[in-house]
Amino acid sequence: MYRYASVVCCLCFAIAFQLSHGTSVTVKDKDNNTCLFANLMINFTVSYEVAGNESATVTFGLPDDVTTNGSTCDNTSSTLKLNFGKGFSWSVNFTTNGKLYKADTITFTYNLNDTTVFPNSVVNDTATVTAKPQIPDIDIDTCYSCNSKETLEADVVNQTLWKVLIQAFVSNDSISENITSCAADLPNTTTVAPITNATTSTPVTNSSTAPPPTTTPTLPTPTAGKYSIKPDENSTACLIANFGLRINVKKIEMNFEPNGTTVSGSCGVNSSQLVLTSSSMTITLTFANDTKKFHLHALNITGKTSSGVEFSEVNTNLSLWEAAVGSSYMCNKEQNYTITSQLTLYTFDLQVQPFGVKKGVFSTAEDCQPDDVDSFIVPVAVGVSLLVLILIVLLAYFIVRKRNMGSTYESL
Ligand SMILES: *[C@@H]1O[C@H](CO)[C@@H](O)[C@H](O)[C@H]1NC(C)=O
Ligand SMILES: *[C@@H]1O[C@H](CO)[C@@H](O)[C@H](O)[C@H]1NC(C)=O
Ligand SMILES: *[C@@H]1O[C@H](CO)[C@@H](O)[C@H](O)[C@H]1NC(C)=O
Ligand SMILES: *[C@@H]1O[C@H](CO)[C@@H](O)[C@H](O)[C@H]1NC(C)=O
Ligand SMILES: *[C@@H]1O[C@H](CO)[C@@H](O)[C@H](O)[C@H]1NC(C)=O
Ligand SMILES: *[C@@H]1O[C@H](CO)[C@@H](O)[C@H](O)[C@H]1NC(C)=O
Ligand SMILES: *[C@@H]1O[C@H](CO)[C@@H](O)[C@H](O)[C@H]1NC(C)=O
Ligand SMILES: *[C@@H]1O[C@H](CO)[C@@H](O)[C@H](O)[C@H]1NC(C)=O
Ligand SMILES: *[C@@H]1O[C@H](CO)[C@@H](O)[C@H](O)[C@H]1NC(C)=O
Ligand SMILES: *[C@@H]1O[C@H](CO)[C@@H](O)[C@H](O)[C@H]1NC(C)=O
Ligand SMILES: *[C@@H]1O[C@H](CO)[C@@H](O)[C@H](O)[C@H]1NC(C)=O
Ligand SMILES: *[C@@H]1O[C@H](CO)[C@@H](O)[C@H](O)[C@H]1NC(C)=O
Repeated sequence: MYRYASVVCCLCFAIAFQLSHGTSVTVKDKDNNTCLFANLMINFTVSYEVAGNESATVTFGLPDDVTTNGSTCDNTSSTLKLNFGKGFSWSVNFTTNGKLYKADTITFTYNLNDTTVFPNSVVNDTATVTAKPQIPDIDIDTCYSCNSKETLEADVVNQTLWKVLIQAFVSNDSISENITSCAADLPNTTTVAPITNATTSTPVTNSSTAPPPTTTPTLPTPTAGKYSIKPDENSTACLIANFGLRINVKKIEMNFEPNGTTVSGSCGVNSSQLVLTSSSMTITLTFANDTKKFHLHALNITGKTSSGVEFSEVNTNLSLWEAAVGSSYMCNKEQNYTITSQLTLYTFDLQVQPFGVKKGVFSTAEDCQPDDVDSFIVPVAVGVSLLVLILIVLLAYFIVRKRNMGSTYESL
């Protein structure tokens, strides 16, 4: 029963934080309640001695199949121990003062006698290394989440941890929905980090906490998606939209991922709607047809950032992307639109036609201003330089002509 509940809970977390892979374990206390939960991925890179006084290096991952024998929980300290392979184990111990908890030491034991992992090892026994985790203090009753990679170097072993979700001192047998994210997962920590020791600064404490002030993180240009709505199964599209999308919500930037997005919506005479649902957000675009022209009338975005911050921003009084009904609106350049005080929308390679689509393809496009400027500047510049060239040639011609005439007079 409890196991079932925690499996369901893990599943929720796996979906919520895209931890679709990784080693997932729960540890029970003496009353058979969950007291420790972990879902994480680790790569070990071990260098060991082989014959001929040389060293070899192997990399292997933490398998999914582990046991938790040796894990313990009590009120102020607990240990997570993952046993795998032929005598391998990875353990981390946690302590708490009641308000915060922290990970103290990571101990990794490996068996050099396992020739499938360490071929030709001259050493024959188990080795142990310890490392200090770079995990900050975590609020009690929150999960520690770190999707970013973190490498711990310890002597001859490097450990890379990623997609980490851990909660120690779980209370009431249920894993917390609240998250303490690692600094690396927050988009802005590198530039905002105080001058003091960066590893000691605690990041966002829980999901309802306002994120720290933003700077400009460098996200890649979002992938452009192609979306269309059909009035019924076997007709051509009545609404088509192509764009790449980025949002800045509550000072967190996210790209909209078109892959895996479900598209729905409707086409009307006076109003059409496009609804895009990705793993992280749902976007509803409502277009209005005011007889001759159409425009984006309303925008509703709800979702959750990777650090667990929920958002829901709506503006139903927009007049963006205006073009004549029967044509499409196009804007290839990156554009930004302030939708609400908390939400800025960035579009890339935008083209939409919400009304009057014929044969499922875009009609003539009405270009937005910046593109026009761009396509204007080049011919104008070419024209101006041609004119200058002509003037120079003419001037040169007259100068030469005048000189020649002068010399003719002189020679006369
Ligand atoms: C092995 O290499 C170390 C240095 O890399 C050297 O000091 C030692 O003498 C070598 N031992 C043998 C047996 O070659
Ligand atoms: C982990 O190691 C495997 C090889 O064992 C490698 O393919 C993979 O890229 C590594 N992952 C990370 C995040 O380092
Ligand atoms: C290595 O282990 C094997 C068996 O596992 C044993 O027979 C052998 O004596 C060991 N060699 C050394 C050098 O310890
Ligand atoms: C661990 O990482 C450091 C830095 O990348 C590297 O110099 C070292 O060789 C690595 N050690 C192993 C055992 O791979
Ligand atoms: C998460 O934090 C909020 C705000 O502090 C709190 O009300 C809520 O009970 C917490 N949820 C859990 C599951 O701890
Ligand atoms: C964060 O969570 C703690 C308890 O987990 C709660 O006391 C605190 O109010 C929360 N912070 C905010 C800003 O909600
Ligand atoms: C439309 O699709 C239905 C099945 O969904 C099919 O029976 C019908 O013949 C199709 N009509 C046309 C005009 O292709
Ligand atoms: C879309 O996602 C699927 C599975 O998640 C993947 O196999 C496919 O390569 C992705 N396509 C693109 C264009 O990224
Ligand atoms: C746009 O609205 C006008 C007036 O309501 C209507 O006559 C026209 O058919 C509409 N256009 C489209 C493409 O639905
Ligand atoms: C569209 O708007 C026009 C005028 O604004 C109105 O007469 C018409 O009934 C509306 N059509 C629909 C389908 O709502
Ligand atoms: C915005 O979308 C959310 C979820 O899709 C919905 O619950 C909410 O009612 C919408 N708000 C408006 C004003 O349409
Ligand atoms: C928004 O666009 C304007 C010009 O179109 C640009 O000057 C401004 O820097 C942009 N703002 C952001 C936050 O990208």
